[in-house]
Amino acid sequence: VTTDAPDARRRVIEAADGARRALARDLHDGAQQQFVTALMSLRLAQRKWDSDPVRAKELLDAALESADAALCTLRDLVAGIHPPILAHLGLAAAVEASAARVPIPVSIDVTPERLSDPIEASVYFFVVEALTNVMKHAGASRAGVRIAIDADQLSVEVSDDGVGGAAPRGDSTGLEGLADRVGALDGVLDVASPAGGGTTLVAQIPLN
Ligand SMILES: Nc1ncnc2c1ncn2[C@@H]1O[C@H](COP(=O)(O)OP(=O)(O)O)[C@@H](O)[C@H]1O
Ligand SMILES: [Mg+2]
Repeated sequence: VTTDAPDARRRVIEAADGARRALARDLHDGAQQQFVTALMSLRLAQRKWDSDPVRAKELLDAALESADAALCTLRDLVAGIHPPILAHLGLAAAVEASAARVPIPVSIDVTPERLSDPIEASVYFFVVEALTNVMKHAGASRAGVRIAIDADQLSVEVSDDGVGGAAPRGDSTGLEGLADRVGALDGVLDVASPAGGGTTLVAQIPLN
């Protein structure tokens, strides 16, 4: 897959804009509503404090419940945006966690080096999408993830021994989205996926 870097960057930016809009919507409809509800209950409780302490106590309970729910909603949202394990423990641990969801053996060989945030994030999402594809499409009996630094290049390889036939679908998600992410980092993505011969995705990303 060859990708023109400026085109890839434009598509990555468009996708990021879309993601931000979705995020604003999620925040507005989720945690924001729950905090608004909590505030309303607190205001009512304050008003009833002297005249109706029993009601005030009920309202405090309701406010606590809403604030609690809002916090849970926020936590879930944050975990979905940027897996905490990636920031704290790095790529190798995050890749292992992602591979643990795959119900076939996955051999993992990942450099322990820490890389820049944008590269770690892109590589992580690359591996997540590639392993999701293995589960969805490959019918494989095993898979592998290899992330290595060779000279000034990062090489990321995800392979399986499944049915092959992987190809981008031209809809800027999935494999095409991966090619764009890699292209935006001035890297290249190679897809080898002969019918019946398994699939190997290799991204080469310059490190300087
Ligand atoms: N590891 C794989 N093994 C076999 N086929 C694959 C694999 N990965 C992708 N494909 C094929 O390539 C297509 C495009 O993949 P992708 O762009 O990720 O789209 P999606 O996963 O949303 O269908 C898939 O629909 C599937 O037919
Ligand atoms: Mg996919």
